[in-house]
Amino acid sequence: MQTTSPLPHRADAAGIAKAARLLAQGRLVAFPTETVYGLGADATNGEAVAAIFAAKGRPHFNPLIVHVADAAAAARQAVFNPLAQKLAAKFWPGALTLVLPRRADATVSLLVSAGLDSVALRVPSHPVATALLAAAGHPIAAPSANASGRITATSAAHVAAELGDKVDMILDGGATPLGLESTVIGFDGGAFDGTWEAVLLRPGAIARQDIEAVTGPLAAAGAAIQSPGQLESHYAPQARLRLNATRAEPGEALLGFGAVGDAWLNLSLTGDLKEAAANLFSMLRDMDDQVGAIAVSPIPESGLGEAINDRLRRAAAPKQTTSRAPAPR
Ligand code: TXA
Ligand code: MG
Repeated sequence: MQTTSPLPHRADAAGIAKAARLLAQGRLVAFPTETVYGLGADATNGEAVAAIFAAKGRPHFNPLIVHVADAAAAARQAVFNPLAQKLAAKFWPGALTLVLPRRADATVSLLVSAGLDSVALRVPSHPVATALLAAAGHPIAAPSANASGRITATSAAHVAAELGDKVDMILDGGATPLGLESTVIGFDGGAFDGTWEAVLLRPGAIARQDIEAVTGPLAAAGAAIQSPGQLESHYAPQARLRLNATRAEPGEALLGFGAVGDAWLNLSLTGDLKEAAANLFSMLRDMDDQVGAIAVSPIPESGLGEAINDRLRRAAAPKQTTSRAPAPR
C-alpha cells in the first residue's frame, strides 16, 4: 500500500482497467455506487479482504457486503429462497442487500462473512460499479469507504480525506446519487413449513414500504444483532448531535429540514426526504468540520425518513457503547 494519498482518478475506460488490475493484485480500490462510495477488494482473496479491515480499522466481527455483477453471480455464492428471488428480481440492480446462507462451494473468502454462515450480496446499478465488476470478473467486497465509526463518504474527495493513504486508487464518479447505504434484508423461517419471513437488518436507500410491497410486513432484527452494523454509534461525527431540535441553542448550529429559520445548512428546504438522504452525510461532514455541536430539525419517520433517523440516532449515540454488542468493540 502506498504512503501518499492517491488523487481521485477519472472513471474512464483506462481508469476502470487500471482499477481491475489493482484488484487482481489484491490491492484496494474505492469506487462509487448509487448509494455511497465503497472500499473494494477482490472478495475471493482473503488477504485483500483483510486489508479492508485494516484500512477501515473495522472490528473483525463486522461482515462485509459482496458486490456482484448480476443475480446469477449472486446465486453462485449463496442459497436463495423464493422470497429472496422475488426481491432480487424487483430491486436488482439497486440499493438492496440480501443476507443469505453461504453455499458450501462459495468462492468468496470466509472473512467477508466474519465468522457467520451467511453472506451479504448486492448488485449495484451505478455505471462505474457495473463497469468495474465486468472488468474485474470477480465479486468485490466493499464496505462504505469511511474509517470505522466515521461518517459515510458520498464523494471521491470524502474518500480521499477519510482513507487517502490507505487505498491504492480512488475512482471518481462524482457525488453518489442516493447518498444513503443500501437497505439490508435477511430471512427467517423456511425450515419447517417452507414459508419465509423477511427481516429488516438495516434501513437504507430503499424505503420499508417499497420492500413490504413485495414481502408483506418486515420483521424487526432480533436482539441478538443479526447484523453487526446495527450497533449503536456506528456513524459518528466528532461534534455533539442533538435530534428533534426546533431551534439551535447557544453554541449549536442547526441542520434544518423543511422551512425552518436560521439553519446553518438545510437537508431539504422543501421537506423532500430523498433530497435529505442525498445531503445527509455530506452536510453532517461539513458541519462537523466547522462546529462543535449540531442540532437537527425533526425528520418524519415515513419513507426514507426511517433510514435517515436511524443514521442520525447512531450519530447522536454515545461514542463507546456496549449496549447490545455480543463482544467488545
Ligand atoms: O450501500 C451500501 O450498502 C454500501 C455500498 C458500498 O454498497 N456498503 C455498505 O457496507 O454500507 P458496510 O460494510 O458499511 O455495511 C454492511 C452492512 C452492515 O450493517 C453489516 O453488519 C451488514 O451489512 N452485513 C454484512 N454481511 C452480513 C451478514 N453476513 N449478516 C448480517 N449482516 C451483514
Ligand atoms: Mg458502513
